[in-house]
Amino acid sequence: MSAEKVRIQLEPSGILVEVQRGASLQSSLPLHGIEFPCGGTGLCGGCRVHVLSGSLPITEQDGLFFPPEDLASGWRLACQAIANVPLVLECEQWHMDVLGDNSILPGTGKKGLGIAIDLGTTTIAAQLVDLATGNVLGVETELNPQAPFGSDVMSRIRTVLAGRDLATVVHAALRPMIAKLARGREHEIIEVVLVGNSVMHHLFSRLNVEPLSHAPFHSPNLGEQRFSADELRWPLPVPCSIRFVRCLGGFVGSDILAGIFAVGMPTSQEMLALVDLGTNGEIAIGNRDRILYASTAAGPAFEAASIRMGMRASTGAVSRVSRSNGEIHATVIGDAGPRGICGSGLVDAVAVGLETGAILPSGRIANGTKLFPVAGPVVLHQGDIRELQLAKAAIAAGFRLLLKTLGAKPDDLERIHLAGAFGNYIQAESAVGIGLLEFPWQRIVPSGNTALRGAKMLLLSANRPPLPPMEHIALAADPDFQDQFVSCMSFPEIGPAV
Ligand code: FES
Repeated sequence: MSAEKVRIQLEPSGILVEVQRGASLQSSLPLHGIEFPCGGTGLCGGCRVHVLSGSLPITEQDGLFFPPEDLASGWRLACQAIANVPLVLECEQWHMDVLGDNSILPGTGKKGLGIAIDLGTTTIAAQLVDLATGNVLGVETELNPQAPFGSDVMSRIRTVLAGRDLATVVHAALRPMIAKLARGREHEIIEVVLVGNSVMHHLFSRLNVEPLSHAPFHSPNLGEQRFSADELRWPLPVPCSIRFVRCLGGFVGSDILAGIFAVGMPTSQEMLALVDLGTNGEIAIGNRDRILYASTAAGPAFEAASIRMGMRASTGAVSRVSRSNGEIHATVIGDAGPRGICGSGLVDAVAVGLETGAILPSGRIANGTKLFPVAGPVVLHQGDIRELQLAKAAIAAGFRLLLKTLGAKPDDLERIHLAGAFGNYIQAESAVGIGLLEFPWQRIVPSGNTALRGAKMLLLSANRPPLPPMEHIALAADPDFQDQFVSCMSFPEIGPAV
């Protein structure tokens, strides 16, 4: 180890990280799964670490955040800390499986290679595609290196508005991914297609994100953005076409446009829906005749960020809750005891609570303690259930309004495709049980990384169907939205099962 570097050991994983002496922990730990949810303002406490060996001086923000006994026992906010000596830190690391896509798409017959990239807020997935055959020749995934600047898009926007350059960060992160994918075949790459949400699109393209920081979230720069390999400093031939696909509007990005292609909506005779559940829930409904889409502020409950014992879907998270023979069973991720609950576990737990009568349709916990025990130390607080009610009401009301605008009924939807990782984890029965999705559960289809699949379809442009008329519905501006939202706040009347 060189004299300028210090070693940090992360526990319980045992991962060793070398950083420059004097470097901030926020600059070095995110890629090892330490989260900085508020982007380092020192307000959220999500980056707390326990110093087991070495020392980190107590900062002003530490003093405001931790009680004296926690400070004395070595708790610190990683976002405020500087590494000057070797450290052993106990911390909550998360590991996220990045969703790829194994679908088989027909080729174009055109010679050459292309790269499809899904630039997510948390993760990046890239695939090398043989344009002639449609075969995927390589896959690279990474955590988004913008994570030190906040886990959600609003924190990223605040960071950029404060003068940080997040474009260079992500361009640089993609450089080695592309180099690994190309592996000496760079000269054969003729096209790169990127998709992502509107904020990722703007940040990557150095567009002004200020319009996305406040209602009505209208940006004048939603269109396709083109780049040269030189300006991104990517190891690709100069004539290679590199484009970030256009957003659909406001918070509906090209990840949803790609998803619309991926689930076959533009060619479907039947009416389909695509929904991506996150801090913003994006919904698209339609078929080959017409497609409507909207985004609705669901809040952080599905990502468990606003839940007292909420955590990512990582080791120790309750990811599933079920009931058999009158007993409640919890599934915990990894070889660990339960230490928190992730979004899918939360939806399941509340569905089970409704089924048993422990949670009432109003959302009130029936036993008077304001606590709903899930597994071991993991409990839901009354406030957690309220957060989930807000989130599910936003999605359910959004669906109702889009269906009303289309003149359709829930029964007209042939399939409801759930995009992304959360869609893969969530149990359709539970989503229906809490009234998040007001459809028969058999029609709900976890659909994986629809953004990446759609990006590949855009790359293999011969396979891209024409789009029918598409319309962005501004839900908040619809006078009916608030009424629908309020009426969706309660949970469905299930009653205690016998
Ligand atoms: S307190 Fe929020 S990231 Fe450190």
